[in-house]
Amino acid sequence: MERGSIDWAGLRAAATEAASRAYAPYSRLRVGAAGQASDGRVVTGCNVENASYGLTLCAECGLVSALHAAGPPAQAGTPSLVAVSVVAGDGAPLVPCGRCRQLLLEAGGPGLLVDTATGPAELASLLPSAFDPRELAARRDDDA
Ligand code: THU
Repeated sequence: MERGSIDWAGLRAAATEAASRAYAPYSRLRVGAAGQASDGRVVTGCNVENASYGLTLCAECGLVSALHAAGPPAQAGTPSLVAVSVVAGDGAPLVPCGRCRQLLLEAGGPGLLVDTATGPAELASLLPSAFDPRELAARRDDDA
């Protein structure tokens, strides 16, 4: 999947459609997310709230779950994202929250392109000095 061949308008439309299906009776903020996988497939997610507010699932959580649930790409390997659009119910970009930036990092890496009001931005610029999962193996303490 070439970066230059990303259909940003299509991704934003898919995210807007997902936002229309959000379950957000508490905040009333609909959020939809659409991602282009490395093999070209498009996956989506919407936010799902809960009366126990802290259990709320952001749209990006659903998106990353859908990515993995779709299965590995035909050429094998772990599913990964190359581009993501997150929008509110009005169809305009909504920059992912901090937790979801970390979630997206593991699904797309620092080069993942994120739709913003001023154009695509690399995730690394939205999440500088990110926690690196390689620290887990490198600094594990078996006594912890
Ligand atoms: N929300 C998302 O779905 N993604 C984000 O990146 C930011 C926030 C949702 C969670 C909650 O349902 C609502 O927006 C208000 O915070």
